[in-house]
Amino acid sequence: MSDLKIFNSNNSIHGKRIIVRLDLNVPIKNSKVEDNTRIKIVEPFLNELIKNKAKVILLSHLGRPKGKVVLDLSLKPVFEYLEKNLNGKVYFYKKNIDKQAIDATKNLNPGDVILFENTRFFPEEEKDDEIFALNLSKLGDIYINEAFSCSHRKQASINKITKFIDSYGGPTLEKEIESINLITKNKKKPVSCIIGGSKVSTKIEILLSLSEKVENLIVVGAMANNFIKFKGMNVGSSLIEGGSDKTVKKIIEFAEKNQCKIIIPLDCVTSTKTNGEPTYKSLKEVGSKDMILDIGKKTIDLINKTIDNSNTVFWNGPAGYYENKNFSTGSLSIAKKIAENTKSKSLISIVGGGDTIAAIKNTGLEKLFTHLSTAGGAFLESLEGKELPGIKVLKKN
Ligand code: 3PG
Repeated sequence: MSDLKIFNSNNSIHGKRIIVRLDLNVPIKNSKVEDNTRIKIVEPFLNELIKNKAKVILLSHLGRPKGKVVLDLSLKPVFEYLEKNLNGKVYFYKKNIDKQAIDATKNLNPGDVILFENTRFFPEEEKDDEIFALNLSKLGDIYINEAFSCSHRKQASINKITKFIDSYGGPTLEKEIESINLITKNKKKPVSCIIGGSKVSTKIEILLSLSEKVENLIVVGAMANNFIKFKGMNVGSSLIEGGSDKTVKKIIEFAEKNQCKIIIPLDCVTSTKTNGEPTYKSLKEVGSKDMILDIGKKTIDLINKTIDNSNTVFWNGPAGYYENKNFSTGSLSIAKKIAENTKSKSLISIVGGGDTIAAIKNTGLEKLFTHLSTAGGAFLESLEGKELPGIKVLKKN
């Protein structure tokens, strides 16, 4: 049983003002929502609130406007998306959080939705300001955090607001927490984690922490270049992090101590430019002008075998420079294998992170995983064992 206060959708909410903190921090291009993954995931819950005739008040940030109004970071495109896709009438509120704003929420008809403009347009949001949080809380009768991916931020609409209003976690937040437990607590061993992305320094804590908990740690993406270099092989002009040797050494030693097997690429796909054509190479063949931009077929085979021998797989971070489809094969192969084994061998699969989701966009594979997490930093911090401020405040006394 969860030790968190989770919103019970059987409670009568007819006419109640329900504040839902969402993560609508989605990519916007030409004033349109470019990727709706984060919105799609919370849509069923919002439609349920609408159906049950709540007055739905939506709060979110978008980007990092640093307490100022930045027009490019307005939630207007998201409002236009919600207006088209939600079942209720949707309004957009752009002014201050004051008495007029409170009245706007009270004047909604049951089943209506009101989206407030980017919370980070107010400097008080990121300062976790008490008065601002109190004013936000007055917009509703109940508060629901449905933004697990923002819960590592100690900010007014995530943290301090809960001091002033009856607060709960939403269903997506609960699912994210349950999926972390599938990797750390109630795990079905062997567990394999595939970690990609570009910077070892941002993921060192997670790699150290995972090597204590899991059987296999597969390092891919530009991050793996640091491991390849550490092993004394040439990485040519590949993306590499200065001074990473010490970090890599620490991770390898820690993993050995914990009997966690570290798997790094055996071969690769290279080019001399990121928009170039792919050339398959063994690691020995990498020349000084080459950039390693994807994993090679031997590495894919090894990863597939490791997935076959696992009961739980967690994947965060692409295997290559997926933005150019010449180098997306590694990420797509991993996604396919995980999806296949989830379907046919009851593998427990947790896939997450913005880049990972982008790498497998439009393949339909994302629907096949046990859990698709839209959280990046928050998910990794939780895996490290950190208590997230936004989750801590939802605990039962
Ligand atoms: C995210 O995209 O991970 C969340 O929306 C948090 O955004 P932030 O890193 O700007 O706080």
